[in-house]
Amino acid sequence: MILGHEKVSFLHLPTPLEYMPSVSKDMGINFYVKRDDLTGFGTGGNKLRKLEYFLYEAQQQGATALVTVGGPQTNHGRLTAAVAAKFGMKCTIVAVGEYPGEISANILLDRIMGCEVYLVQQDGDATEEELEARAVKETMDKYIAQGDKPYFIPMGGSNALGCCGYYECAMEITKQCEEQGIENPRIICTVGSEGTYMGLFIGLKDTKSPVKLTGVAISPSHEPDAQARAKKYFDECKEYFGLDWDAAKEDFDITLKYHCGAYNNPVKEVREAIYYMGRKEGLIFDPCYTGKCFYGIREMVKNGEIKPGENIIFVHTGGVAGINGPAHRPLMQEELMDGMIIKAPAK
Ligand SMILES: Cc1ncc(COP(=O)(O)O)c(C=O)c1O
Repeated sequence: MILGHEKVSFLHLPTPLEYMPSVSKDMGINFYVKRDDLTGFGTGGNKLRKLEYFLYEAQQQGATALVTVGGPQTNHGRLTAAVAAKFGMKCTIVAVGEYPGEISANILLDRIMGCEVYLVQQDGDATEEELEARAVKETMDKYIAQGDKPYFIPMGGSNALGCCGYYECAMEITKQCEEQGIENPRIICTVGSEGTYMGLFIGLKDTKSPVKLTGVAISPSHEPDAQARAKKYFDECKEYFGLDWDAAKEDFDITLKYHCGAYNNPVKEVREAIYYMGRKEGLIFDPCYTGKCFYGIREMVKNGEIKPGENIIFVHTGGVAGINGPAHRPLMQEELMDGMIIKAPAK
């Protein structure tokens, strides 16, 4: 139970907090990874923690279907599909976007798990928000008309209730730091729809944890004032949970410096960060979230925003399916051909 909210426990928690020796030595810091890519099923990732709480509420309401929204390659949608499959529910992901000409990456996994993917096409004059809202209503109505009870989960699972998942993760990390003797640690996580960051923020402050927190925005949607946006989200959570403490705008440490200009865009430096981690530690990051954030971490080490010897805890939020998406895989293929040996063996 977190802040009075119950969940359906379907994860094996806590996830490991692992030290990365080669990267630490090379970067001159102590680099730890909180392995939230290992959260159980659907190929894992951060959203399963939030979904434990959504599923409880959905079950309380007698829901038989889950409906959510995101980009066509949404990881959150893929994990919603996984939860729906595991708990015998129907599922639809609504996404505004073109059909990329192939069923790959997350969309492939969605379909393997039996989830419907509704790709909403432009009709000329409506905004993306309008198109999405219309398609969600149509989907909810369709479920109701066929006798189902749909439960709607917002983009990225990022409302107040979704924060419970990362509140719990904040407590895990604090305990693991104590157990492993990690002094003065700082968590660094990606900031997308922000539920991960906000859950960690509230969890750390509410439990008076000494662990610090920095967020790396992965898209310009947090501009111009990421702190103001975070404060607004915090205020919603404060009211929802009835928190008896406040946070100031300045308390939110979120950098806008490493979003690389767009959401899920292919970026050479991000791919290089992915190759670096793969080759040093055998750990796979994705181009949209974890790879971009790790690119930011490498820059922060270079420019002194991360101090030599600092204890950094990176939250691996999953998303590895993204490397197989049409925006990224062909570019990686070009760059990685150099290690392909395609010929008959020498006699
Ligand atoms: C793999 C991955 N990492 C990080 C995030 C960001 O989490 P949040 O949306 O809670 O900020 C997402 C969000 O979809 C994600 O899929």
